[in-house]
Amino acid sequence: MASFEEELQNRRTFAIISHPDAGKTTITEQMLLLGGVVREAGTVKGRKGNFAKSDWMEIEQKRGISVTSSVLQFDFQGKRINILDTPGHEDFSEDTYRTLMAVDSVIMVVDSAKGIEPQTKKLFEIVKERHIPIFTFFNKLDRDGRPPLDLVDELESTLGINAYPMNWPIGSGQILSGLFDMYHNRVEVYHPKEGADRFLALNAEGTDLAEPNEIESAFAWNETQEEVEMLKDAGNEFDENQVLKGELTPVLFGSALTNFGVETFLETYMQYAPAPASKKTVDDKEVEPDDDQFTGFVFKIQANMNPNHRDRIAFVRCVSGEFERGMDVTLARTGKKLRLSNVTEFMADSRENVDTAVPGDIIGLYDTGNFQIGDTIYAGKKKVEFEELPTFTPELFMHVRAKNVLKQKSFHKGVTQLVQEGTIQIYTAWDSGDYILGAVGSLQFEVFQFRMENEYNTEVVLEPMGSKTARWISPDQLDPKMASSRNLLVRDRNENPVFLFENQFAERWFADKYPEVELEAKL
Ligand code: G4P
Repeated sequence: MASFEEELQNRRTFAIISHPDAGKTTITEQMLLLGGVVREAGTVKGRKGNFAKSDWMEIEQKRGISVTSSVLQFDFQGKRINILDTPGHEDFSEDTYRTLMAVDSVIMVVDSAKGIEPQTKKLFEIVKERHIPIFTFFNKLDRDGRPPLDLVDELESTLGINAYPMNWPIGSGQILSGLFDMYHNRVEVYHPKEGADRFLALNAEGTDLAEPNEIESAFAWNETQEEVEMLKDAGNEFDENQVLKGELTPVLFGSALTNFGVETFLETYMQYAPAPASKKTVDDKEVEPDDDQFTGFVFKIQANMNPNHRDRIAFVRCVSGEFERGMDVTLARTGKKLRLSNVTEFMADSRENVDTAVPGDIIGLYDTGNFQIGDTIYAGKKKVEFEELPTFTPELFMHVRAKNVLKQKSFHKGVTQLVQEGTIQIYTAWDSGDYILGAVGSLQFEVFQFRMENEYNTEVVLEPMGSKTARWISPDQLDPKMASSRNLLVRDRNENPVFLFENQFAERWFADKYPEVELEAKL
């Protein structure tokens, strides 16, 4: 049996960020294949369905909450990997952002025909703020893509991070022949002939093949050789410390669909990705993962959408100490004591009851309404409370009211609880006090509406206000007369004033008119 310290050092917990359709599901499957968890590609249950709303919302037939794919755990090269799902598509919500608070590193998958797309950029901003390592995989090399130099250039300029290519494509699409693997001084051949080696050695200088051999496309090979020389002369230096601080991203290429380059990518990831990190408390102390005391924090609460089964699961990231089933913990916010006996761990092929977990692992606690997003739980006597999770700036807004005015009481109760749970954000209009809901993804409104009806027996009317830019203003600088129809003045949950700008034009107009006013954007 591995010791606690070994188990801890062996954990790697990451999320994949990408734009929808870049290949997140496909690469996840290939990784599970490499980990020996599934035997065939395409078996991550339901493929897209598993990561998407359809599956999540039609839970009627199922007793369980469809979270099997929220966290996947598997072993690779003696290490235990936890992949946390970051729902994209129409499932994009604040949960997607919050998941990034619970990982130690991130893999970014980019479609090499499309380059950096908006959703990747958004998610990347959050990762950057946290200074965690990020590993880039340019996918779909088997299709004609954009020139690799362009892609790396764009990555650096749009995301403001330095890139360090570790391998380089030899052609793409029809003429894809392999990868020039500068890091291992070899060529990884795409579709090697039967019986032939998958890897070809390079000469000592790393400029050409060690032994004469035919690369399928001579044209592509020459071009690659030139580009690799250029990278060696003018590219960034490799610096592991910069990787660990999230300032330099290792870049690798491949094709998830044809399982090309994925293993090399995962190996590189395993080599440089960090073991579970410490976490800051509200009194500015760091809780180290090898601390004896078990601690963890709730980063996501998933409600069952089935009205007959109102259980919820609170997802807890273990931060320190060893978790054991049946353990007594304290919920820091309320001081309430809880016994953790009904706990779930997430495996790739099943949800299993968990007996122990170590830092870096995610456990699911059945919740009857005790938890809020960001809550700390700890075992033992010494109180620990982690720093709050950030609130993310919503971009979509809706007016909301109860359809039946006689339902005000349950309406308020439902709104308050769902906001506390982190389902949605609430704002109130400055003058009228009307409720305005804010979200980063439209799914949040649907979930809100559904749960209000089913759990609080209150039908709600939602009126879209469209997308707005929220900017916080210091109360000292605020004059309510600054508000107009193009910049609505509202209060956030903590009574802070916020302007909701109709568009960038309105924001610029405001900045010109009130140059002394500082507006603040949150994450
Ligand atoms: P996502 O989770 O990031 O949204 O992407 P997903 O893996 O579902 O991939 C999106 C589409 O791109 C899928 O095709 C998938 O087969 C394809 N794809 C992923 N990786 C590669 C690759 O390396 N090369 C090529 N050529 N295609 C790739 P689809 O037809 O939209 O979905 P499906 O019907 O095959 O499920």
